[in-house]
Amino acid sequence: MSSDGTANGDIDWALFSPAAYAPHHYIGVDCHDVAIARRIITTLERLSGDYRSLTEIGAGGVLRTACLAAPLLMPGSPITLTDVAEPQLAATRLAVEQVQQGRPGYWAAHEAAMTAVNSRWANALATVCRKPTIRRYNVLQAPLGTSSIRIEGHCLCSLSARPDEYNHAVSNFYGGMQTGDVAIRLFDIGSTGYNVGDVWFPGYPTDELEVSNQAESMGLVVLDSFRMPYQKRTDSNAASSTLSALGGAIMVKP
Ligand SMILES: C[S@@+](CC[C@H](N)C(=O)[O-])C[C@H]1O[C@@H](n2cnc3c(N)ncnc32)[C@H](O)[C@@H]1O
Repeated sequence: MSSDGTANGDIDWALFSPAAYAPHHYIGVDCHDVAIARRIITTLERLSGDYRSLTEIGAGGVLRTACLAAPLLMPGSPITLTDVAEPQLAATRLAVEQVQQGRPGYWAAHEAAMTAVNSRWANALATVCRKPTIRRYNVLQAPLGTSSIRIEGHCLCSLSARPDEYNHAVSNFYGGMQTGDVAIRLFDIGSTGYNVGDVWFPGYPTDELEVSNQAESMGLVVLDSFRMPYQKRTDSNAASSTLSALGGAIMVKP
């Protein structure tokens, strides 16, 4: 699949294989995961715990991003995990079911890494997996709307290689933010795409400066933005990418 001008709608997202993707990036907690958890929690722990809803876009079977944000919620607050791809929605359901059945796998180690930073994160997995709504949402089709916390992990930079689609998706991601709402982004820095199995998915090469400038131009205040080196895992050849650094940013609507 070419990365030259390929639109999000031209990509066959049914070919996105969670079985090829997840073991490459999420097979065990390493120094990169710990550094990201530490950096994000150090910012989030300064915020109150009275947020009332959380929505993730492009979640797939990855519970890490939701777990990073869930401890900011009031008990019982609704959590919505979305994706556009059916295989990824199935992966979300499976991951949640496995946690509910007491088989959290990798995510338990991740929760432990978060809890080592702040004990408030000790129930993050249970909070996310208690009763999330899992549904299809295409961030290119409509603003995200009402949610006091919105999060994305490597979704907006992985929709296509087209700057117009990236900008439109980012605008929709922030769309509907109210005063005090939080947005959390994790993204690939400079990546033009990645393989999942033998299928190439194009990406838009952004960085932490562009992410921050764009958020500020939309009236948000950036609490933190960062980049961290990322070394491709060697335990699987099922996925590869042009990725050498990960970025993160946390924004609030003043
Ligand atoms: C690189 S994966 C990231 C998965 C996971 N969030 C993570 O942190 O590893 C990109 C995700 O974006 C989703 N996606 C692609 N196009 C989308 C769209 N238009 N709206 C919402 N999600 C989309 C894909 O299905 C996929 O799950």
